[in-house]
Amino acid sequence: MSKTSIPTVGIIGAGQLARMMIQASISLGIECRILAKSLDDSAALISPNVEIGDPNDPIAIEAFAKKCDVVTLDHELVNVEGLKLAIEAGIPVQPTPETLRYAQDKLYQRNQFTALGLRVPKFKALVSESDLLEFSSDVGWPLVVKSATGGYDGHGVWIVHSEADGQVLLNQLWGNGLRVFGEELIDIQMELAVLLARRTTGEIAMYPVVETYQKDGICHEASIPAAISNEIRTSAENIATVIGEHIEVVGIMAVELFLDSQGQLTVNEIATRPHNSGHLTIDGCSTSQFENHMRAVMNWPLGSATPIKNSVVMVNILAAGEKNPLATIPDSQSAETAIHLYGKIPREGRKIGHVTSIGDDREEVAPRARSIASKLRGDS
Ligand SMILES: Nc1ncnc2c1ncn2[C@@H]1O[C@H](COP(=O)(O)OP(=O)(O)OP(=O)(O)O)[C@@H](O)[C@H]1O
Ligand SMILES: [Mg+2]
Repeated sequence: MSKTSIPTVGIIGAGQLARMMIQASISLGIECRILAKSLDDSAALISPNVEIGDPNDPIAIEAFAKKCDVVTLDHELVNVEGLKLAIEAGIPVQPTPETLRYAQDKLYQRNQFTALGLRVPKFKALVSESDLLEFSSDVGWPLVVKSATGGYDGHGVWIVHSEADGQVLLNQLWGNGLRVFGEELIDIQMELAVLLARRTTGEIAMYPVVETYQKDGICHEASIPAAISNEIRTSAENIATVIGEHIEVVGIMAVELFLDSQGQLTVNEIATRPHNSGHLTIDGCSTSQFENHMRAVMNWPLGSATPIKNSVVMVNILAAGEKNPLATIPDSQSAETAIHLYGKIPREGRKIGHVTSIGDDREEVAPRARSIASKLRGDS
């Protein structure tokens, strides 16, 4: 790519993250090319540059990559052999297959982070029936069973209350060919996410630590600043820096952390792409996670991750049945509240958009965001 030509960033996957990457790319003068499963995908709906292809097909990925200057990802469920073929053909892929492995395989991630000296929940690979009993004698009931690969929005996470229930579940999961592990159930006081952008020079832009609220494994709300002590904040940031540098991430990385009832931080998992907890950066920070992701992937200088208001709160719009949010757009709205809809067909529980409010005081900002999100869900 010459210095003056328009760069093309290929994005594998066409969900709302790709859609918001495109939105940020417009202002940066970057052209995006999308590998979508269907023309109805959220990002495919708004892109003139869509190719239909299977992210599990290495040949499709290689052919797609060859039409791009650099390739990045909307989600982790991408064939790594295809990414390697793209790299062999001279097309950089960010995150690299080595970095992506951490996000694709939670068990690998747990093992590596343990070796790195980070605190993670107690865990054990479950490969035979006796493993569950052995692990439960260590951590007690209930415990958590997770799929090592393929999980999102709580799919791939099960809370198990007894040996009998656990054996039924394990046999089902093994029958489906899944690799699984057991994990202690953490007594969570608060969930946090630390987002940073990093580029190949090692430059890092660190966003304010986000407080997140999950229900049934799905993120409902995110808020900055997190209501935590400076000490916790600093350790959360340190953990993210250590991980980001160790895995040599390029682009956005999110580290999900549990703050337990004893005040200890435990690493839950990482994502090596823009993350739901970072949607509030679009309206709440100087540079959004999507813009910084594109900048990092292009190896351009990163933008400031500073918040622009004292309080920023994001509320996800989870569809209530088939109610369409376009039917309930509020007539008037505060200038300090922004609506983001993803063009997705509403289906019960599906993330179809989010609302972000900014202001001086969380006590006022959070209800404002919730009330608009609730209107868009069609609650009243
Ligand atoms: N060991 C644990 N102890 C207590 N709660 C847990 C534990 N592991 C997961 N959870 C709860 O389940 C949620 C989802 O878990 P996790 O992040 O591992 O799954 P996921 O489906 O990969 O999530 P994501 O939507 O972030 O991709 C967590 O945010 C947390 O609320
Ligand atoms: Mg998670």
